[in-house]
Amino acid sequence: MKVTRKHTVAHTLKPSQHPYLTGPWTPNFDEIDAEDMTVIGTIPADIDGIYIRNTENPVQEPLGNYHPFDGDAMLHTMTFRDGKASYKNRFVRTRGFVAEQEAGEALWAGIANDPRISKRPGWGAQGSVKDSSSTDVVVHAGKILTTFWQCGEGYRLDPYTLEQLGIESWTPQDGISAHPKVDERTGELLFFNYSKHPPYQHYGVVDKHNKLVHYTPVPTPGPRLPHDMAFTEHYSILIDMPLFWDPELLPKGRHHVRYYPELPTRFAIIPRYGVEADIRWFEADPTYVLHWNNAYEEGDEIILDGYFQEQPTPPPLHGMPPVLGQMMANIDEHSFQSRLHRWRFNLKTGTTTEQHLDPRTLEFGSFNQQYAGRKARYSYSTFTKPGWFLFAGVVKHDLQTGESWQLAFGDERYGSEAPFVPRINAVDEDDGYLVTFVTDMQQDRSECLLIDAKNIEAGPVCRIILPHRISSGTHATWADGPSLRRSTPRQTG
Ligand SMILES: [Fe+2]
Repeated sequence: MKVTRKHTVAHTLKPSQHPYLTGPWTPNFDEIDAEDMTVIGTIPADIDGIYIRNTENPVQEPLGNYHPFDGDAMLHTMTFRDGKASYKNRFVRTRGFVAEQEAGEALWAGIANDPRISKRPGWGAQGSVKDSSSTDVVVHAGKILTTFWQCGEGYRLDPYTLEQLGIESWTPQDGISAHPKVDERTGELLFFNYSKHPPYQHYGVVDKHNKLVHYTPVPTPGPRLPHDMAFTEHYSILIDMPLFWDPELLPKGRHHVRYYPELPTRFAIIPRYGVEADIRWFEADPTYVLHWNNAYEEGDEIILDGYFQEQPTPPPLHGMPPVLGQMMANIDEHSFQSRLHRWRFNLKTGTTTEQHLDPRTLEFGSFNQQYAGRKARYSYSTFTKPGWFLFAGVVKHDLQTGESWQLAFGDERYGSEAPFVPRINAVDEDDGYLVTFVTDMQQDRSECLLIDAKNIEAGPVCRIILPHRISSGTHATWADGPSLRRSTPRQTG
């Protein structure tokens, strides 16, 4: 393996026992390029593109309590072509990251603190936290876009070089929320944001040339905390869920999240270029949903899959201080009990029907993006280590037959979101790979795995050894190589 250390970022973190600053969540500070990778197995020649993962990777000693969603953004990428792979990692130089580097200390409180201890005003829905852009990553119009869950500015980077291209120019006043969606068929990017002032939520469309072409209110009765959106061929789906900041405490500057199980979950179904008057609202059982899978139209119905939480506000984990135990429970899928679930919205009758598709605790799904917005047969979910925000393996579902298959990554091996990657010249929907980074605590190293999506139980077809052990991380995406080279012809990969 040929390794080039490009830069080491200054940090002020003190030694810690914090469960999300140690072990598999130990942050990295080195920025590295690596090629001529060491491989267990053989890298297939029929995969061409880039696996890109965002990572909450803090560099400053926190003001108060640390929450893993506070970390600075570090991207890790593995680029594949012609049976070869290369690795890079870089921090995203957000305005907050740069300001804290200049100050040599944290300037913003994290979300597990009273926001009034921040030393500077912040961004987004809360308005007092740093826009760390460390939540999600998508590729649109040939460039990476990183995002922040409480709405931020959106940062662009070159997917092959990780060159920093700065703040996305079309970012609206209220920012962009964590999970914009790219429709591969049209090249459009669909996004939403939310805020503490009326109309509280907006939805927008950016075209394949990266031009903002649509932006419209999707009003909610007050400030809400939606995390994700979905789309079908003709509609976008926005959400009003009964878990949000206590409206009586907000005017006092306190951001206390409460669950209101007496309220329904409400879904706004809006034509892709629709306006407020076109929205159809549907009610469903109360819950909170972090992430949706696919959605599609069938007859009079719109069908949406996602992860229904049985216990959106779980009790704290036992055996630890209450604040820490509550934070640990809030990010533990086995505490909030997320289940693969299907909602059906009938556009003719205005009624909703819904059901669990699997009783297991699952979240962070993926599917073949060539089927996004259309009916797909297969979906892939991840499962976690109980008590921890650590991905322990993947489950594949055949949504037509109800069959499922499972692969565990192994003892003390923790993965990332594992997008489906179509094989070059794929012949059917599940003809491809699942790709993930794994942090292996027993081997004290990290790997990139390729898993044959047609036979996940067989284990990875290859394991590429990374040049350093990387922090566990969450959201990831796949960028198709031929599409990237068409949109950025000077890049050769
Ligand atoms: Fe998310």
